[in-house]
Amino acid sequence: MTAQIIDGKQVAADMRVELKEQVAKLKEKGIVPGLGVILVGEDPASKSYVTAKERACEDIGIYSDNNRLPAETSQEELMALVEKMNKDPKINGILVQLPLPKGLNEAEVLLAIDPVKDVDGFHPVNVGKMVVGEKAFLPCTPHGVIQLLKRSGVTIEGSEVVIVGRSNIVGKPLANMLIQKKPNANATVTVCHTRTKDLAYHTKRADIVIAAAGRPNTVTADMIKEGVVVIDVGVNRVEDATKKRGYRLVGDVDFEAVKEKASFITPVPGGVGPMTITMLLYNTVESAKKAAGIEVE
Ligand code: GUN
Repeated sequence: MTAQIIDGKQVAADMRVELKEQVAKLKEKGIVPGLGVILVGEDPASKSYVTAKERACEDIGIYSDNNRLPAETSQEELMALVEKMNKDPKINGILVQLPLPKGLNEAEVLLAIDPVKDVDGFHPVNVGKMVVGEKAFLPCTPHGVIQLLKRSGVTIEGSEVVIVGRSNIVGKPLANMLIQKKPNANATVTVCHTRTKDLAYHTKRADIVIAAAGRPNTVTADMIKEGVVVIDVGVNRVEDATKKRGYRLVGDVDFEAVKEKASFITPVPGGVGPMTITMLLYNTVESAKKAAGIEVE
């Protein structure tokens, strides 16, 4: 079997057309959704993510307040900027790019973001609401993964899902979202991680494997069954002298071999990445609607 490639770029582009229309309608009512973006330090991957997020905002008509702070920024300065954005009525969503440089207290910063502007869904109030199944901002990458599965026609209900990775940004929230008693959930979920004794034992019995470990070749062809759906959340830079920039991006999955066995697979780049940004735009638009008293679904 050769897998159908899930085109995250296309799914994201379709969703962005819908969002752009919604933003245009809001503008007719005098409402401009706004996103406050904070990047601290010089991490190259974070820089490129943040630039892509800002461009995407511009593209669909969301106002973005872009802030680049030096790595030496103090906790107090960062907290003050978050507070300022909490009070700014032009801003409906606040995004503090993670990870923060060493010495800054991430948990304290996330706690300082007003939960009604927490479009990343990282504030403990939103995490708690998500876990108990209440309406909340859903974290963008896991939400993007679920949208990709849904829009590709993959059955999530009742399926065996194995997630490799337990981060607060992907693995943990995704597991929680997939076990909800809701449509596009109701899955049986196993979360594997660096201390899992026999990873292949778990991945081999999965209907859907989601790789979010942050390490190339974490999932190889011998570790999966025929017909499995594979979602690759990994974004790893590997040295490549043939590329002008000196590296290429690969996921956590051995794409070339695994695609010969899977029924569906996401590529890297062009799979989950564009969806993460799209779900951020989605949350920002929803937040702006809510702030304006417009009913959100
Ligand atoms: N770092 C990696 N992914 C994310 C994300 O979705 N949001 C933020 N704020 N930081 C990240």
